[in-house]
Amino acid sequence: MDIKAIKEYLGVDWLAVQNQIVSSLKSDIGLLNATNDSILSHSGKQLRPMLSLLMAKACSGGMVSDAAIKYAAAAELLHNATLLHDDVADGSDKRRGVPTIMSLMGSSVSVLVGDYWLVKAMELVLDAADDSSKVMKVFSKTLSDLAEGEMLQLQKARKGDTDEDDYLRIIYNKTASLFEAACVSAAISSGASEEMVKAAKDYAVALGLAFQIKDDILDYSGTEAVGKPLGADILEQKMTLPLLGAFANAGKEKETEIRVKINDIESHPEEYRNEIVAFVKEYNGLEYAVSRLNSYVEAAVGALSMFPDSEARDSLIELAHFTADRIM
Ligand code: IPE
Ligand code: IPE
Ligand code: MG
Ligand code: MG
Repeated sequence: MDIKAIKEYLGVDWLAVQNQIVSSLKSDIGLLNATNDSILSHSGKQLRPMLSLLMAKACSGGMVSDAAIKYAAAAELLHNATLLHDDVADGSDKRRGVPTIMSLMGSSVSVLVGDYWLVKAMELVLDAADDSSKVMKVFSKTLSDLAEGEMLQLQKARKGDTDEDDYLRIIYNKTASLFEAACVSAAISSGASEEMVKAAKDYAVALGLAFQIKDDILDYSGTEAVGKPLGADILEQKMTLPLLGAFANAGKEKETEIRVKINDIESHPEEYRNEIVAFVKEYNGLEYAVSRLNSYVEAAVGALSMFPDSEARDSLIELAHFTADRIM
């Protein structure tokens, strides 16, 4: 089963999420609607709502409640909000194979539309159930995780001293925390037991970490298909797992030499970047990251072992493998 087949399997529930996203964003401001349409016409993989719906079904024996639809839509709205902000923070001119809103319409539009999508996500969560405060707490934690993760990443990029613990915290905060909110909200909406909510969380966190590690591998070794600028992390002084793995293999002296170059990357961006990419390949940083990625995929699949056998559970397993194999 591939991603397209999973969407087909989700059928009317998948359509309900799409409709919910579109109707939530409607405004009487023309510029806002036009910008929303432009984002929605390149909607990306939509992995987070897929996860939400599959988790809701896996926990409930196949049912998807109205609340689950709203949480799924909220997760995707929030994801897009973070991308609109992230492209400004990273100065990125391309996403999903097309120019970013930031490059087409400027940073102010990207930030303000990001704010709008974020608030619409929170409105959906508040609106989803009579007692939405438990799920609201899950999503608000994710919001603060996201901001803290981005700030820690900036702090570490400036100082140039990222180690693996820092890296794991950054990728938990900026990526895995939202996977967690998508899956935990879905499990709660299905009336899952505490034990099952915990398993949903374990699956989502391991999957989210794997997903960001793969994103960071693709930055070094991906093709055009990624649809985003390649080799961008090192120019932004982001020390991701392929580089940290090469450090672990290369020894302290070489590591110090490379860290000095990254701190000074602005003086020779192209030359230093090529040298660092070559260093990562020579010292098997990509293999190191792939091995860690595979362990997280295995952990994600392992967390599903307490769920009863179902097509939804099989699809969650499928999504975990997709995360490791994807080229975009
Ligand atoms: C991109 O996420 C941001 C990361 C967390 C790496 P996706 O790769 O899921 O983005 P789209 O929505 O499919 O473009
Ligand atoms: C991850 O950050 C996305 C967010 C949580 C906003 P990145 O900067 O690594 O993501 P891409 O590569 O731009 O999608
Ligand atoms: Mg970015
Ligand atoms: Mg990236």
